[in-house]
Amino acid sequence: MQTNNRVLVESLDQEGRGVAHADGKVIFIEGALAGETVSYSTYRKKPSFELAQVTQILKSSPMRVQPRCKHFGVCGGCSMQHLDASAQVSVKQRILEDSLWHIGKVMAETILAPIYGQIWGYRERARLSVKHVIKKGRTLVGFHEKRSSYVADMQCCEILAPKIARLLPLMAELIDGLSIRERLPQIEVAVGEHVDVLVLRVMDPPSVEDQALLRAFADKHEIQFWLQSKGPETIVPFYPLDAPALSYSLPEFGITMPFAPGEFTQVNSALNRVMISRAMRLLAPQAGERIADFFCGLGNFTLPIARQGAEVMGIEGGAALVNRAIQSASYNGLSANTVFKAMNLFAMDEASLAQLGRFDKWLVDPPRDGAIELVRAISPGIAPERIVYVSCNPATLARDAQILVEVHGYNLKAAGVMNMFPHTSHVESIAVFELK
Ligand SMILES: C[S@@+](CC[C@H](N)C(=O)[O-])C[C@H]1O[C@@H](n2cnc3c(N)ncnc32)[C@H](O)[C@@H]1O
Repeated sequence: MQTNNRVLVESLDQEGRGVAHADGKVIFIEGALAGETVSYSTYRKKPSFELAQVTQILKSSPMRVQPRCKHFGVCGGCSMQHLDASAQVSVKQRILEDSLWHIGKVMAETILAPIYGQIWGYRERARLSVKHVIKKGRTLVGFHEKRSSYVADMQCCEILAPKIARLLPLMAELIDGLSIRERLPQIEVAVGEHVDVLVLRVMDPPSVEDQALLRAFADKHEIQFWLQSKGPETIVPFYPLDAPALSYSLPEFGITMPFAPGEFTQVNSALNRVMISRAMRLLAPQAGERIADFFCGLGNFTLPIARQGAEVMGIEGGAALVNRAIQSASYNGLSANTVFKAMNLFAMDEASLAQLGRFDKWLVDPPRDGAIELVRAISPGIAPERIVYVSCNPATLARDAQILVEVHGYNLKAAGVMNMFPHTSHVESIAVFELK
């Protein structure tokens, strides 16, 4: 590694790295903040840019704070703990506005106030890696190290739900004592309102002694173990079998959402409630309207829309999620005005969209790849008057926004960020489009 001296950091990029210029190249510097003067070491050199790590902070930003987690810098879970939490939100807001302008050539008429929530202990879904490291003579349980496939040696985590964070070293100790410790590569975490589930990916079945250790751990720490022997369809409860079902509630809408450990749910349930509230205010569903919820998952937005009296169709690629959504609609007494459809929305075209009929409004909540096929498939006869777009990737939101505005004649009325994943570089946002 080569150490370079004195560079002024101009801004932060989408991944929370400081951006500077030196010798005609862009330098992306991990651990550096905008406005700081730093020296850095380059770990990858390309003709037009370099990837580097900060070695010394020569002039510090007033926004720099002491990271709370002792694993910060090694663990790949967070990249922004060294930046004041409210400044993180401003950075994300700038990333959103910059993406809309530079990628999509669009600008929101109004910037919505950011949505905040708790900044520590918020993460209720996680995939932890497990590795028995012979050199260390013990098992590690945690996130991957930064830029590495190694499992970080984690004793704690400040963003995981506190109960699960406290269990990290105890889970490692438990697995150390199992005969299958080298055949157990992953633990999936799902925190519900009445039960906390750990799904162990087991490549060999646990022995009778292993099973006794798992039972004792579950009793002592009040968690439920599930086992997964192969693909997601093989996830089954192990112990205790009489634990309450996983669920989260949306009290504002009088809704309870049961879910299974392998099913997609938002990782931050507190902010999810605030996000749904905002989405409902922006969408303003009304009785008599026909509304589509694209990428509906288990019905996280569909059921609140239905609660307002609108007719709503939830469309989703995962068949298990569609079945779950149908069951949840029935459980919440919302079957009469909901219908769900399994469909690959990345293969959407004009004809298949037209077949669904015209909707007054759309809610769209795609994965990181965005919804380009869906927005391209809009034709004048079926264009909804309002679209509320929830995004976990500002770049694809911006790309899709350009199509909505330039091709289909929408106005981008408003956009704003939602701090769903504090201390990480993930930018969650919401945007509202209205037909001119
Ligand atoms: C960001 S999640 C949103 C889920 C839901 N709206 C929620 O809030 O829980 C994106 C959803 O898109 C679904 N999805 C991914 N690829 C898809 C595809 N090609 N067609 C349809 N749905 C897809 C995923 O299964 C997931 O449920």
